[in-house]
Amino acid sequence: MKILVTGGAGFIGGNYVHLMVKEHPEDTIVVLDSLTYAGNLETLEPVMDAPNFRFVKGDIRDRDFVSALFEKEHFDIVINFAAESHVDRSIENPQIFLETNIIGVSVLMDACRKYGIKRYHQVSTDEVYGELPSDRPDLLFHEDTPIHTSSPYSTSKASADLLVLAYHRTYGLPVTISRCSNNYGPYQFPEKLIPLVISRALADESIPVYGEGKNVRDWLHVYDHCHAIDLIVRNGKDGEVYNIGGHNERNNLEVVKTILKALGRSEDLIHYVKDRPGHDLRYAMDPEKIETELGWKPEYHFESGIKDTIDWYLNHKEWWQHIVNGEYQSYYERMYKDRK
Ligand code: NAD
Ligand code: DAU
Repeated sequence: MKILVTGGAGFIGGNYVHLMVKEHPEDTIVVLDSLTYAGNLETLEPVMDAPNFRFVKGDIRDRDFVSALFEKEHFDIVINFAAESHVDRSIENPQIFLETNIIGVSVLMDACRKYGIKRYHQVSTDEVYGELPSDRPDLLFHEDTPIHTSSPYSTSKASADLLVLAYHRTYGLPVTISRCSNNYGPYQFPEKLIPLVISRALADESIPVYGEGKNVRDWLHVYDHCHAIDLIVRNGKDGEVYNIGGHNERNNLEVVKTILKALGRSEDLIHYVKDRPGHDLRYAMDPEKIETELGWKPEYHFESGIKDTIDWYLNHKEWWQHIVNGEYQSYYERMYKDRK
């Protein structure tokens, strides 16, 4: 099969490509990525010379470019990881989120309709369901939980999900959607909580914790997410949504303290800062559907997964230091200066 992976130079797409190039040598993987601030060719270095891999630089918003690529390549499967993915950036500048996360998706699906594919898979998020209360551990997000978004980011992702389902119903496009909880693991851009804490703690810099650090996220290792997507793409049912999560709820303070302890750093580095506007209190997924229908089970436990991840950042300092020493510096100044 020939598989188009959009956004494959980012965190999850990059990990997906690493795993699939090895596990499915019979498939050809073509990555399409515009290399925004979050896209990094160094992430793709381990697969760049693989015979079943190719990289194409391009923008999913560019209708003519995408159409020409589909006409030439005849893809069997399209998996869309490409997105603007950071909530804080969406609060600062929503426009690009609407353009990439909604218009970009419509461009891809129109090309799928025109040239024909076996499956279009949309990588979505638990954030489309909004937030859960923190005093009701019995409440989880199910696939039929109503969409109820908070940030421009989650609203753009929810809009894309609705569009994908509309293309299935109206045009019969064979689609699937996965909605996953927070990922952690190798190659995550250090604007996100876990790599931000690791990189700043290693430099003995203050760790910004929003509000009181009580917000809860449901953490899943990125490899578990990637294997879930692979199962859905191969065995999932057209028109269906699948929730992905590992029942791994932690509040932010617990996560930060775990990392500081593992790195032998003092909790005095923790610095409480102004909260994120519209900050969702708690996310928690019910993955029962993908477990029972497709036989998926997460392999990583948070305790060992976070240790492996910390080791990865210790052993790949060059990868993230290129980022934190570059344009990211001015992002950090801009984003955190009013939060003190
Ligand atoms: P990321 O920001 O690390 O990577 C996004 C990639 O998309 C980058 O390589 C970037 O260059 C590329 N891209 C952005 N705009 C593009 C455009 N217009 N055309 C082509 N390429 C473009 O994101 P991530 O954390 O890897 O997330 C991947 C997907 O998974 C996103 O759709 C996100 O919404 C979803 N998701 C993320 C998480 C998480 O915890 N990170 C959890 C659930 C779902
Ligand atoms: O839930 C899935 C989502 O997870 C994905 O759809 C998003 O693409 C991804 O970015 C992530 O969103 P979050 O907003 O949950 O991730 P982030 O790492 O930005 O923040 C995690 C939690 O940590 C959140 O409650 C905010 C808090 N936080 C974050 C940063 C960057 C802090 O307290 N301090 C920080 O400096």
